[in-house]
Amino acid sequence: MRRPFIIDCDTGTDDALMLAAAVYHDDLDIRAVTSCNGNVGEPIVANNNINLLEYFGVKIPVARGAKRPLYDRPVNEGACHGASGLGDVVIPEAKNGLVSDVIASELIYQIAVEEKGELEILVTGPMTNLALAIVQHADLPGLIKKLWFMGGAIDGGNMNNSSEFNIWVDPIAAHIVLTSGIADMTMVGLDVTMKAVMTEEDIAELRTVGTPAADFAAAMLNFMITHAEERGEGAVMHDALALGAALDPDCMTYRSCVMDVEWQGAYTAGRTCLVNRERPEMGPNIRAAVTVDTPRFRRWLVDAISKSAGRQ
Ligand code: BDR
Ligand code: CA
Repeated sequence: MRRPFIIDCDTGTDDALMLAAAVYHDDLDIRAVTSCNGNVGEPIVANNNINLLEYFGVKIPVARGAKRPLYDRPVNEGACHGASGLGDVVIPEAKNGLVSDVIASELIYQIAVEEKGELEILVTGPMTNLALAIVQHADLPGLIKKLWFMGGAIDGGNMNNSSEFNIWVDPIAAHIVLTSGIADMTMVGLDVTMKAVMTEEDIAELRTVGTPAADFAAAMLNFMITHAEERGEGAVMHDALALGAALDPDCMTYRSCVMDVEWQGAYTAGRTCLVNRERPEMGPNIRAAVTVDTPRFRRWLVDAISKSAGRQ
């Protein structure tokens, strides 16, 4: 049986690569892609999701979602993802985009109810949509089989020395989700994703596939590598690595921990904190990635995108 799955993202250069790897995977039944404010404003994110899915030749509904975080942070105007969120890569506007008329937080709940406890969710942006769904529906945590997310770090950050972007944007949402009681949560944090770096070799291989999805992935990786200096990082696969945890779990090692999010500190809001001593009653709530086998992950990602051959 295919795994019922929702992808909640803030597309975004590396979110787009994650989508290119997810949509052709035979194990997944992607019921919806939900859009959240993050790398760029939500209207641009939703537009990117609609355009990308049509460009990839798949029919998956896109839901519009949160326009701003629950925490008081400004809406991002592109930064290292460019104003469009897709760097310098341009794809056609969708002609028949499949858009849900239900807002993301409600759609997540509706699908969770329909799937009767089997739904898995991957979040690769701020957690605002999922937090809103949890606040509105107290039974939702018990209906989610597994949550995979890219965000936080056991140590370090990219917004300051202790906060990673997705959690920094909306620490209140992340706190709600991490303390919600979802039974099985896997965190793929920045300290691990920074090691999941693609190379020119991967671009060359993708260029031989000859599908729009693989050409798109090659162009996006090329943008990331050629603009590495101004972006502050090269072809780092934060979001695709979180998908990798769901589909090729053995490419990482993990540790179990008690984790919460600091959302009140003037300088530390957005930090993921190990609270084994402070909150022992919470019990281990997170399985956090600690190491990645980078060559294995690169192989997996190129193969996943190459599955577009024969499908496009
Ligand atoms: C995360 O922040 C975003 O810029 C990326 O898409 C990724 O989800 C990395 O900190
Ligand atoms: Ca993202």
